[in-house]
Amino acid sequence: MRGIRERRSIRSFQDRDVPDDLLSQVFEAVRWSPSRANPRCREIIAVRDPGLEKRLRETVGPGNAAAKSVVSAPVVLVVCGKLGRAGHYHGRVTTRFGDRLLFDLGIATQNLCPAARDPGLGTVIVGLFDHEEAGRIFEIPPEHQPVALVPPGCPSRVPPAPRRREAAEFTHFKRFRNDLKPGKPPGLE
Ligand SMILES: Cc1cc2nc3c(=O)[nH]c(=O)nc-3n(C[C@H](O)[C@H](O)[C@H](O)COP(=O)(O)O)c2cc1C
Repeated sequence: MRGIRERRSIRSFQDRDVPDDLLSQVFEAVRWSPSRANPRCREIIAVRDPGLEKRLRETVGPGNAAAKSVVSAPVVLVVCGKLGRAGHYHGRVTTRFGDRLLFDLGIATQNLCPAARDPGLGTVIVGLFDHEEAGRIFEIPPEHQPVALVPPGCPSRVPPAPRRREAAEFTHFKRFRNDLKPGKPPGLE
């Protein structure tokens, strides 16, 4: 729980490299993340090239708080997903939510970030960028989509935690209620 509570999105990094063996641990964490029917929809591109990182930064708008992190981190991971795999069975969608690519990649990324944090690396998930341009930069085939950028590195600044809704404001018991308020959750009756 402490690991969850104390994790922060890190957007500025020290000028220190991330060794390959640490990166391998991070990739292992993605490998072991849950994924229905092992749909093999995940791909990760590790970028260590300053020229490519500069081009990648241009895909992240200047108004994005994480824009600098893409060039200041020693490596950037481009988390990609293959369309038509997650949430599909024999080529057909199995739930009302369509392609569950984002769900599977979200879980994989949520494994990735704490695995990076174990040895002291910080990360931020960058979801707001020009996905098409990133696809062109890394020659990603059209059936795969770059979904998130995650720069791991040694944190140089840990920001304060943004305010969260209290658990009591989103925890419903027995039935959905629109009038949940902060305070102590009523508990299971
Ligand atoms: C799917 C997703 C996309 C995100 N995209 C961005 C982004 O484009 N830029 C950014 O600065 N932070 C981004 N974040 C990080 C959130 O802003 C951050 O998690 C939130 O402000 C809570 O702060 P904390 O992670 O430090 O608790 C993203 C987070 C998620 C889960």
